[in-house]
Amino acid sequence: MSDIQFVISEQLEELALAAQLIDGRDDNAHPLDHQVFFDSRAVILAKTLEGEIVGCAAIKAGKGTVGELGYLVVSPHYRRQGIAQGLTQKRIEVAKALGISILYATIRAENTSSQANLLKAGFQFWRDYLSIRGTGNTVGWYYLALSANVDAEAIMLSLVGDRIQAV
Ligand SMILES: CC(C)(COP(=O)(O)OP(=O)(O)OC[C@H]1O[C@@H](n2cnc3c(N)ncnc32)[C@H](O)[C@@H]1OP(=O)(O)O)[C@@H](O)C(=O)NCCC(=O)NCCS
Repeated sequence: MSDIQFVISEQLEELALAAQLIDGRDDNAHPLDHQVFFDSRAVILAKTLEGEIVGCAAIKAGKGTVGELGYLVVSPHYRRQGIAQGLTQKRIEVAKALGISILYATIRAENTSSQANLLKAGFQFWRDYLSIRGTGNTVGWYYLALSANVDAEAIMLSLVGDRIQAV
C-alpha cells in the first residue's frame, strides 16, 4: 500500500485506461457512459510506482456545494490492501478543496464491501430507496457532511426526489 500513489488525473489517455477498469467491473450492472465519466469533477487514480493504474474513483460531474461519489473500482489483484480507502480519503480532500460541503453516494444493498468502505471513511448511512430504474433493487444512500452548518437531511431529501423508500 505504501507504494501506491493517489493522484488526480486529467490526462485523456489515463482516463481512458480508468474507463477500461470500470468497464471490467465485476458488479457493473449498467454500461459506463464514457463521456459522463470524463466530465467528472475529479477523477482520482491509484497508481503503482511503475505507473500502472490499479484503481480509480471519482467525484461525479456536477457543480455547487453538493458532490456525488462514484466510479470506484480496484483491480482484483490489488484488493483488501486499503486502496479503496485511500481513493475515498483523497476524494474527501479534493472535495474540500473544491468547496463541496456535503458528499453523498448511492450503493446497491448487496455491495457490502463498498458500504464498509464509505462507513470507514466516516460516511453515515441515511436511508434505503428503491432503484429509480424500476428494477426493484434496493439502493442505500450515504452522506458525509464536510461543513458544520450543512442541513444534510434537507439536502438528502431533495436529492432522492420522488423515489420510493424501501421498507
Ligand atoms: C469495493 C472495492 C472498490 C473495495 O476495494 P479495496 O481496495 O479492496 O478496499 P479496501 O482494501 O480499501 O477496503 C476497505 C474496507 O472495506 C471493507 N471491505 C473491502 N472489501 C471487502 C470485502 N470483499 N468484504 C468485506 N469487506 C470489505 C473492509 O472493511 C475493508 O477494510 P479491511 O480490509 O481493513 O477489513 C473493490 O472490492 C471493487 O473494486 N469491487 C468491485 C467494484 C465495486 O463494487 N465498486 C463499488 C461500486 S459502488
